[in-house]
Amino acid sequence: MTATTDRLESLFASRVREVVPPLFGAAGEPVRPLISLAYGLADPDLFPRAELMAAAAEVLAYEAADSLNYALSYPGLTDQIVERLRAEGVAAQPEHVVVGYGSGQILALLPEIFVEPGDTVIIEAPSFLGAVRRFVQSGARLISIPVDDQGMDVALLSDTLRKLAAGGRRPKFIYTIPTFHNPTGVTLSLERRRQLVALAAEYGVPVVEDDAYIDLRFAGEPLPSLAALDQEGWVIRVGTYSKILAPGLRIGWVHARREIIDRLLMVKAEGTTGPFITRVVARFCENGRLERHIAMLRQHYAAKCAAMAAAIRQHFPAEASFVMPAGGFFIWVKLPQGVSARALLEAARARGAEFLAGTACFVDRAQGEHAMRLAFSFQSISRIEEAIAIIGAAFADL
Ligand SMILES: Cc1ncc(COP(=O)(O)O)c(C=O)c1O
Repeated sequence: MTATTDRLESLFASRVREVVPPLFGAAGEPVRPLISLAYGLADPDLFPRAELMAAAAEVLAYEAADSLNYALSYPGLTDQIVERLRAEGVAAQPEHVVVGYGSGQILALLPEIFVEPGDTVIIEAPSFLGAVRRFVQSGARLISIPVDDQGMDVALLSDTLRKLAAGGRRPKFIYTIPTFHNPTGVTLSLERRRQLVALAAEYGVPVVEDDAYIDLRFAGEPLPSLAALDQEGWVIRVGTYSKILAPGLRIGWVHARREIIDRLLMVKAEGTTGPFITRVVARFCENGRLERHIAMLRQHYAAKCAAMAAAIRQHFPAEASFVMPAGGFFIWVKLPQGVSARALLEAARARGAEFLAGTACFVDRAQGEHAMRLAFSFQSISRIEEAIAIIGAAFADL
């Protein structure tokens, strides 16, 4: 047994030699009856089960031959993605879209087409480590740009790009979540959006715009996406149906210049994404149904976010601060001086609730020690209030 283990270990490629534990525990049954605010799961009560059943039945009734066979990618869903992008002001083209198994798949393929070990990739700090870890595996050298209340610090990015250019280094891409950022919930200001797109063109560095939450706005006016501001094709826009329909469908997409799409298709080894499931999603979304569904989601998530914010104000120490998000799934709380997120998490777990410690959102785990991410997406309002009260009590245990 051990001999086999040893002999196997020496076979693995260097990028996976050291086993990194999964970022998030398996979503599902918690070991103890904990109320978890740790994960950005969708609210299962909001899944349109009956309509999805009807859509699946229709696909089986009318399109079984194509949907159950090896088939070319389904143009109907691509057309809908293009239509939504055009409504957002992007000059989108169907041949510039690839549909994947979740935006996670697309984000994992991007380093495969861009990164050689030692290349530079720019990310935000904090960020969505699910994607960032793939960049690390590709051997990229990461440079982190901090996020403040207005999103990525684009002035610092500008300095960084200038210094890199002076040293003859051009990053392979910049990864950003400009709208309802994961984990901080903040949105990149319009001014910074313009600057970021201009910097991308000036330095010739693609910007990967991961706008997973863009449609879940429940306050304020929409801002143009980076892709909508981009005149020269430096923005690689990545999107998903996970947050607006159901993550379990595993449908995401990318819109980018054809040169990039061609390369993505070369490394997307399994070929077409789900001929069956893409048709089910497209049928569900027809005739304005997706937009009506999103409007319903916005209302529900807005109410949950408001309930969580009110509970935080009631139960957390006054020095715990947060920026009220205008959409998305998360509230990011900065903890009072001296309070460690990991210690608080331990105390909260002992009392029956959990959150994501800020450290889980930074590549450099020395950061985020005084912050927590609270997901309001999954639990009911009453459970959110209960969990926040529990975490509030855990502050007193420290
Ligand atoms: C910012 C961001 N991008 C991408 C994803 C991945 O989404 P999916 O692979 O389900 O499309 C998530 C999921 O949590 C996310 O928060």
